[in-house]
Amino acid sequence: MGLQEEVQKRKTFAIISHPDAGKTTMTEKLLLQGNLIRSAGTVKGKKSGKFATSDWMEIEKQRGISVTSSVMNFEYEGFKVNILDTPGHEDFSEDTYRTLTAVDSVVMIIDATKGIEAQTIKLFKVCKMRGIPIFTFINKLDRESRDPLDLMDQIEEVLNIETYPMNWPVGMGKRFLGILDRYHNQFIQFNGNEEETYIDLKDMDLPENKAIAENPTYQETVEELELLNEAGDQFSLERVLAGEQTPVFFGSALAPFGIEVFFNTFVKMAPAPGPRRTKDEVIHPDYPDFSGFIFKIQANMNPQHRDRVAFLRVCSGRFERGMNVQLARTGKTIRLGQTQQFVASSRDTVEEAYPGDIIGIYDPGSYRIGDTLLDGKNVFEYDELPSFPPELFQRVSAKNVMKAKQFRKGIEQLVQEGAIQLFRGYPTDSYIIGAVGQLQYEVFQHRMKNEYNVEVMLESIGDRIPRWLKKEQVDTKLFDERNLLVKDRDDEFLVLFKNDFALRWFVDKHADIELIDLFEVN
Ligand code: G4P
Repeated sequence: MGLQEEVQKRKTFAIISHPDAGKTTMTEKLLLQGNLIRSAGTVKGKKSGKFATSDWMEIEKQRGISVTSSVMNFEYEGFKVNILDTPGHEDFSEDTYRTLTAVDSVVMIIDATKGIEAQTIKLFKVCKMRGIPIFTFINKLDRESRDPLDLMDQIEEVLNIETYPMNWPVGMGKRFLGILDRYHNQFIQFNGNEEETYIDLKDMDLPENKAIAENPTYQETVEELELLNEAGDQFSLERVLAGEQTPVFFGSALAPFGIEVFFNTFVKMAPAPGPRRTKDEVIHPDYPDFSGFIFKIQANMNPQHRDRVAFLRVCSGRFERGMNVQLARTGKTIRLGQTQQFVASSRDTVEEAYPGDIIGIYDPGSYRIGDTLLDGKNVFEYDELPSFPPELFQRVSAKNVMKAKQFRKGIEQLVQEGAIQLFRGYPTDSYIIGAVGQLQYEVFQHRMKNEYNVEVMLESIGDRIPRWLKKEQVDTKLFDERNLLVKDRDDEFLVLFKNDFALRWFVDKHADIELIDLFEVN
């Protein structure tokens, strides 16, 4: 098979959702569809109990499968599917956001009983900013849910994206009859624990379908859909692929119901790997030489060794195990011998990979987030990965002042690796680190001790709202502990506002000072 065909076969995506919306259940059902596992409930032992938050090794051990299942791949209907995990809960970190730089599309799961929740909004924003196509699955229709029209309104208003319902629920909870599939003109009947059945809408007037056709809930839904056909947006694959419209599917991951029609439609519509920007050109996936970039570094996967695994997304050409590649940042040649692909609960050695695939490569400490690895004479670097809005901030110092040198070295290295973000107080020059999730601090503290032999003291300064300032508008007199003035790694000034109230108060008082939200999405 040629490179072009291999590229077209690949669908690389992540599932974004708020904890408990059904991501694990959905992943299991997809793996079942891909015949990768025989029974559900094996993706991760998520209810395996609490871990001691101070011990990263323990966290790693307990997480076990959940870590190795960061990427899952399987063949489905002639496609090669790669699902990337976006950890939530206490696992939420910048890596969760960065994963979104390595996918070609996203499935957003919304709990029909709850509507849109906080973590979904955060992850959605990153997708929107990057123009990633988003497919929506509204889950838990077997429960008493919110009104589907309200859910559509909420998606449009809160997330500011056009919706196109691909199907529409007929009843919900105890009265849930199934879904009307507008896109394929069929009714999919919900039969509880039994398999779903498909009825072509043309056949609705046949005697055997009379009971459904005459059911008042069904009739109401047909009327509702007629209104939707007249008033709603038209389906546009072009707009879907541009990230401007989201096709919406209803169903239940647990039942399972509506999963097959959703996934069959998704694999056909979702984009294959596309071109990617470098500093001064665009590289297409069928560019003949191998290239890829590192979007995540997982430390201490094996507690016995201090090894690390770097996750690389292949962007062009063909990867072959044992090949020599160049690390574009340093010009160094590296042989990629120890490479892994992640299949559900096991790590297999990968022999070859194509654009869209994710491979795990052994990292002796040479890689940084965003690094480009490539083969061939033409040397380029893919665009830097963006940084993401930190929300939690801590002041950090070494317990033992004699260790100042190792302390600085450790922090610098971990910042370069992308484990945490560093800010310097102004004019005090104190160290303040920012993260998007608590896990990052645990990893930071653990690695500083184990890899740099420095015990660090962390002092929380709470959730903060960062806003950048123009240099010429900086006036140190205006800031204090409450609204802390700091510099970022590019020496730009920003203020860490104590809370929303403090921010609004400042804006009212100093209307002339421009505050910039680097992460605002329109
Ligand atoms: P997450 O990975 O997004 O955090 O969610 P997960 O799949 O673990 O699902 C969270 C809870 O919601 C689970 O129940 C799961 O069984 C349930 N769930 C998922 N999809 C559906 C659905 O379509 N309908 C209904 N009614 N429930 C659904 P739990 O009781 O918290 O966990 P468990 O004891 O079942 O493992």
